[in-house]
Amino acid sequence: MDVTETMPSSAPGGRRTFDAPTRAFHWLLAACFAGAYATSDADGWRWLHVTFGYTMAGLLTWRVLWGLVGPRHARLSVMVRKLQGLPAWSRAVRQGQWPALRSTHNLMLPLGVMFLMLMVLVTTASGYLAYQDWFGELFEDLVEEAHELLGNALLVLVLGHIALMLWISLARRQNHVWPMVTGRSKTPGGDVFKRNHAWLAVLMCAAALAFGLYQWQTAPAPDGAQRSGATGSADAEHEAGEHGRRGSDDDAH
Ligand code: HEM
Ligand code: HEM
Repeated sequence: MDVTETMPSSAPGGRRTFDAPTRAFHWLLAACFAGAYATSDADGWRWLHVTFGYTMAGLLTWRVLWGLVGPRHARLSVMVRKLQGLPAWSRAVRQGQWPALRSTHNLMLPLGVMFLMLMVLVTTASGYLAYQDWFGELFEDLVEEAHELLGNALLVLVLGHIALMLWISLARRQNHVWPMVTGRSKTPGGDVFKRNHAWLAVLMCAAALAFGLYQWQTAPAPDGAQRSGATGSADAEHEAGEHGRRGSDDDAH
């Protein structure tokens, strides 16, 4: 069966274009990005910054797995296949065929999304390296500078991603953001996803929340003491030590 084939739509809200886990992935990722960026420069909140970053890395790992074993339309291979049309698409744009830019088949969208995922990977990896005491002072400074640069580059990419979605929505006079919220679109055609897998989305949100709570419990309190729940645990002490170490490094900046 061709991967682009769809099934007849079943609901009055429109055809299903995104399943629940894909939407949960997207909005958790977006929220964590906003959180990571907002806390990146805040002394004493390093543990929260790191928690948002780790959650993004976890979400990305999940998306790759879902892209390998999930439903056909969530597969990463579908994205890669779309990108194979890139030379013909960019030729059309160069020849002034504007519909190529206005349509939902605007290949800047999957290209941007792939690049976003890659940048999340590289940024979180560089953040992890910046968080360790593995290097000498010179290299440590370099890693920190690189991480800051990557974080800012990711922000530019995210703003471009949002602008592109708005541009396509305006050009087609159709809201292309809303389907990422509801999972459904009024565009003609059949369901892209047969099942919603809502339970998986609930599981993802619960896991993200549980990880956040665990990190909060093991983070050093503002006065340097540990919060209750972490006391007596060697792991928790290690965690608190790690968070605290970076926190005081930052204070010294
Ligand atoms: C208000 C902010 C945002 C809006 C309105 C938005 C909107 C969208 C929409 C509508 C799509 C679906 C594109 C399609 O039709 O295929 C999408 C996909 C995607 N967006 Fe966003 N986005 C936002 C923020 C972000 C942020 C902050 C990130 C990452 C840091 C991000 C990463 C992605 C990724 C990775 C996908 C692909 C999802 C998948 O197929 O699994 N987005 N976005
Ligand atoms: C995609 C997610 C992330 C984004 C967007 C991001 C962004 C940033 C930015 C912009 C800064 C520079 C703040 C400033 O000094 O002005 C920063 C600093 C830092 N980040 Fe991240 N970060 C992310 C993930 C992570 C992760 C996963 C870790 C650790 C595991 C981490 C650890 C750090 C540390 C330790 C610093 C301070 C570096 C220094 O001392 O200059 N970050 N981050």
